[in-house]
Amino acid sequence: MTIKQPKWLDNAVFYEIYPQSFCDTNADGIGDFAGIISKLDYIKELGCTAIWMNPCFDSPFGDAGYDVRDYYKAAPRYGTNEDLKKLFMEVHARDMHILLDLVPGHTSVEHKWFKESMKAEKNTYTDRYVWTDSIWEEPKGMNCIRGISDRDGSCAVNFFSNQPALNYGFYKPELPWQQSMDDEGPKATLEELKNIMRFWLKMGCDGFRVDMAGSLVKLDEDGKGTIKLWQNVREFLNKEFPDAAMVSEWGEPDKSLMGGFHMDFLLHFGPSHYNDLFRCENPYFSKSGKGTAKEFLARYKENYNKTDGRGLICIPSGNHDMDRLARTLDVEEMKVAFAFLLSMPGAPFIYYGDEIGMRYVENITSVEGGYNRTGARSPMQWDDSVNAGFSSASAEKLYIPQDPDPNRPNAKAQCADPVSLRSEVKRLIALRMTNPALQSCAKIEFIAEDYPLVYKRTCEAQTITVIINPGEKAVDVEDISGKVIYTVGGKATAEGCKCHVEGCSAVFIEM
Ligand code: NOJ
Repeated sequence: MTIKQPKWLDNAVFYEIYPQSFCDTNADGIGDFAGIISKLDYIKELGCTAIWMNPCFDSPFGDAGYDVRDYYKAAPRYGTNEDLKKLFMEVHARDMHILLDLVPGHTSVEHKWFKESMKAEKNTYTDRYVWTDSIWEEPKGMNCIRGISDRDGSCAVNFFSNQPALNYGFYKPELPWQQSMDDEGPKATLEELKNIMRFWLKMGCDGFRVDMAGSLVKLDEDGKGTIKLWQNVREFLNKEFPDAAMVSEWGEPDKSLMGGFHMDFLLHFGPSHYNDLFRCENPYFSKSGKGTAKEFLARYKENYNKTDGRGLICIPSGNHDMDRLARTLDVEEMKVAFAFLLSMPGAPFIYYGDEIGMRYVENITSVEGGYNRTGARSPMQWDDSVNAGFSSASAEKLYIPQDPDPNRPNAKAQCADPVSLRSEVKRLIALRMTNPALQSCAKIEFIAEDYPLVYKRTCEAQTITVIINPGEKAVDVEDISGKVIYTVGGKATAEGCKCHVEGCSAVFIEM
């Protein structure tokens, strides 16, 4: 199977937008497409070249839009399909790209397919979801919805109880109600998924971030069935939309890339040890120097070797499901963390607001199924005006309460301040853009894995050694020669074959 990587991914830097919290132009307290359009120049000026936007489809918002009611309709609170099309055009006019969030595994209970599938009489949607054939039988190993339908059966759910699982079949069906991937119901679900993708790609989106991409086929322990399913999607894309980019929420790049994805995220769950770096009691990026990156690196190298240069392993700064970076790291520590994030292979993803060190808002009530994630989804802080420039609605109407600190970080002030976190992130992106050895596909070789972390990035034209020293103590690195092209934090000097790096700093040396 051929997987061609769209050229624009070679040096893409993504910015994740949570649409409800980005910018509100109609004073209803919730962000909208027009607001996003009004801030595209900000994203471009930061240096990002692409956007991933969280779900923006019609939904009752029991899980912030990951419970889709109509895959073909933009959620009215954000705008119309025409407004979304305009967003695509405005993104492209700035030479940028945009991925939508595709939720293939489940819908909302309010989706018309689900309502039809609950009926006792057989119809087109009877097999669209995973149903047992008796209300008294629960699908083993899965949660389910029971007792709300005339249909005699329990329906498997994928995440919250209002998210019934779409039926893509079982890898090895064991019971009469378990369908195989080749049965008519699962085949029809897959064809409908392609229709949805076709609809938005034709309208101008550049690809998809795929929600829970590794869990579509059931009883599929090694992911073989799900890989096969995505290979089928890849064939369709190769034929009809070869430039569409696909990134998976899977967390196992060896599998997802085999399925035809271009990129996979390392995540806060699963085997990656991603949290060791930024979000644990002693994060590796804390000045205390008590953390460790060893297990993360062991898993990273394993994945890197397994994927053998095919596709991109993406390490995000955060996302709408995890704590903000600023909950565990201070500004200086975040600068060093960004030096790492923006100099690793794969495509970097910056979660909106992380570039200014937005804080996790503590002690707030859950909004739209956010629970403990809600504090990381608060409205963007644009300036020091009312509601931090997010909305002109009254503060109580805002989608999520904002950081109450009068000194909360804001984008305007940080853009004007050359030593701010945002200015550092901007310089680091520019450094990546102007040095091919720091970009997505250049090779990486790890030289030291503790304090400091040292790695060499190499492409045909260039070799750059990156020294990341998050701990407070200064370090000397031997056997390094070349020219210091950039430093973050303290000073660094390279003399002969030795490089001296201050604590809480990072240095880039061109060989
Ligand atoms: C992962 C998404 O990132 C998360 O926000 C959502 O709640 C679940 N998938 C369910 O769709």
